[in-house]
Amino acid sequence: MPVTHTLEADVLRRQDPELAEILLGELDRQSTTLQLIAAENFSSPAVLSALGSPLANKYAEGYPGARHHGGCEIVDVAERLAVDRAKALFGAEHANVQSHSGSSAVLAAYAALLRPGDTVLALGLPYGGHLTHGSPANFSGRWFDFVGYGVDAETGLIDYDQVRTLARTHRPKAIVCGSIAYPRHLDYALFREVADEVGAYLIADAAHPIGLVAGGAAPSPVPYADVVCATTHKVLRGPRGGMLLCGAELAERVDRAVFPFTQGGAQMHTIAAKAVAFGEAATPAFRLYAHQVVANARTLAALLAAEGLVVTTGGTDTHLITADPAPLGVDGRTARGRLAAAGMVLDCCALPHGDARGLRLGTAAVTTQGMAEEEMAGIAALLADVLRGGTESQKARDQVRELTGRFQPYTG
Ligand SMILES: Cc1ncc(COP(=O)(O)O)c(C=O)c1O
Repeated sequence: MPVTHTLEADVLRRQDPELAEILLGELDRQSTTLQLIAAENFSSPAVLSALGSPLANKYAEGYPGARHHGGCEIVDVAERLAVDRAKALFGAEHANVQSHSGSSAVLAAYAALLRPGDTVLALGLPYGGHLTHGSPANFSGRWFDFVGYGVDAETGLIDYDQVRTLARTHRPKAIVCGSIAYPRHLDYALFREVADEVGAYLIADAAHPIGLVAGGAAPSPVPYADVVCATTHKVLRGPRGGMLLCGAELAERVDRAVFPFTQGGAQMHTIAAKAVAFGEAATPAFRLYAHQVVANARTLAALLAAEGLVVTTGGTDTHLITADPAPLGVDGRTARGRLAAAGMVLDCCALPHGDARGLRLGTAAVTTQGMAEEEMAGIAALLADVLRGGTESQKARDQVRELTGRFQPYTG
């Protein structure tokens, strides 16, 4: 199914050509450059179709069977389907699929378990903690007393001894495990053990690995964490949004923390699209995809290291790689700009050592396009060459255009 069908039907183009051009321009950008941002993916035409459906018109405050609006009998079925699919996919007793975003899901988890002023132990922001893990610019840093654990400066691996020591010293009400940039699996059993020792809740912010969990390519936090927060739009390949998973005993607290405590009406088109994505993620094809995402990331990490970049932790277990381009003579910010000019789109990130910025990249989107190890080799070589100044950006841009031309995210 072509993704541009709505535009091709000419509805938007006839009514609002200015905006239609913007949408087509973005489709062209996504299709002709390499999407290496670790948090991005290409959701399927079926997911996009649910997002652009008349469910977007429906107000549905509350939960299925207990809404504050009339006419919810059909969207109730959609939400029940999304919840049932999420529970089955992740083996969770309860799922809440209403969170508008990953940050909203984290906010709801805190609202369910904590009171303002409580102490929370989480990965420090300089080491890959998310804004919602205690940034002073975010509600989390203002309303809670965050203590940050870190990673070993040499290995880049989480310092689990420090986690235990800080937990014993600060007796947090909750421990958060999860990151925007950590490329390795987390030791959920150890986090659980430390949380139990100090009487803390364990909140897993699995926004990044949850798609790999769905595909059986990463360990699941569900058996260990009191509450799991996640996004639905990264490797999971669903619509932009959040969700929460928990045991039956916390179900009511979590639901009340989402609505009415932190959100209003549920976005039923997005919930329907989440249901579609959960359905896709339960297929054998998605399992293959998730394992290929990791295989591609491992190959890319090894080849970038062979090109001279310093790959944090020496590799990856996931879809995500962080690397220092300094040995090639560029800092992270300069590298990101040069690569963007060449059509390779990725992010900067903090590095475990010093103040320098590194590069963060991921393989979720390029794997959805059908790229495999051979293409990773081409990407690693081109990326390093651009950073060394060996290939001028227009020539590299042409090579990227040729590669993406063979692996279109959408047909039509
Ligand atoms: C670990 C983690 N938590 C929370 C979020 C927030 O998600 P959103 O941008 O949907 O609010 C992200 C997003 O990248 C994330 O990586």
